[in-house]
Amino acid sequence: MMKVVVVGAGEMGHGIAEVFAIAGHSVGMVDVKREFLEKGLGRIRESLSKLEEKGRLKEPSSVVVARISTSTDLEAAVRDADFVVEAVPEVVDLKRDVFRRLDSSTRPDAILASNTSNIRITTLAEATSHPERVVGMHFFNPAVVMQLVEVIRGERTSEDAVQRTVEVTKNIGKVPVVVRKDVPGFIVNRINAAETLFFCLLVQRGINVQDVDSTARAQGLPMGPYELMDFVGIDVAYHSLEYFAKEVSPDYGQCTVLRDMVNSGSLGKKSGRGFYDWSKGRPEVRG
Ligand code: 3HC
Repeated sequence: MMKVVVVGAGEMGHGIAEVFAIAGHSVGMVDVKREFLEKGLGRIRESLSKLEEKGRLKEPSSVVVARISTSTDLEAAVRDADFVVEAVPEVVDLKRDVFRRLDSSTRPDAILASNTSNIRITTLAEATSHPERVVGMHFFNPAVVMQLVEVIRGERTSEDAVQRTVEVTKNIGKVPVVVRKDVPGFIVNRINAAETLFFCLLVQRGINVQDVDSTARAQGLPMGPYELMDFVGIDVAYHSLEYFAKEVSPDYGQCTVLRDMVNSGSLGKKSGRGFYDWSKGRPEVRG
């Protein structure tokens, strides 16, 4: 059993904390406000009860939840951690600041992993004095359901940190894929960013999003591209294109619709409104 700390209790952080707790680890969940921690814990309880109802938990959900402690004090929470997963919003300076703080408050042998969707691990590791222990551990949403985890080796990550993260990934029942070239978006989001741009430009040309999504579903995909953007978060998709516009090609900056949606608070499922109306918890055509 390890002491794992997940930094960020949001869309990804709460799910990652849940996955580690199900696997039997002692988990600390950290966020800047109590209310974010309470919301994250509430979502973990809901998800665990779904799994429990279907007989997919080996032990009562109350036992799993009891493994999770919460804190707003990052430095105190990570002091005795074996493994830390950072899952704060996808903003380079914010993530680098978290890594700077982790660097000075964790044990020297602790692994510092980032769940970043796109940002090069090398960029985050540069904020620390020991970049060899900084690694990417990229989960997919919903973390408790999706099997894939990208384990990313930054330019200065040690092979030991990569291998330990691969073992941890297997231990929590996920399927690791090691990414040895630290490029923006790694493997999956390198592809997704191009798709996001494409579907965004279609909206700007007046396409009907329901037509596209129902066609995608009819082809057997679990969600259409616009429903998926709402599900993952319009802000997440927007930050990803912004990062690609800076790091890969200015072409990614052509998408204005996501920026407008973020500015008007239409963040997708989490805000109740995106390409669809989510006020009833499922996507409905906006009035
Ligand atoms: N906790 C526990 N169980 C959950 C759950 C959760 N949070 N979410 C879904 N489930 C379970 C359901 O209970 C259900 O179980 P069952 O098969 O035993 O009935 C099963 O998962 C399927 O869920 P639903 O029946 O509610 O609905 P769907 O069949 O539509 O599945 C979905 C939901 C699994 C989210 C599916 O729509 C899907 O796979 N969507 C695509 C998700 C995807 O592509 N994610 C990756 C996004 S990219 C990303 O995350 C990268 C990042 O960097 C941005």
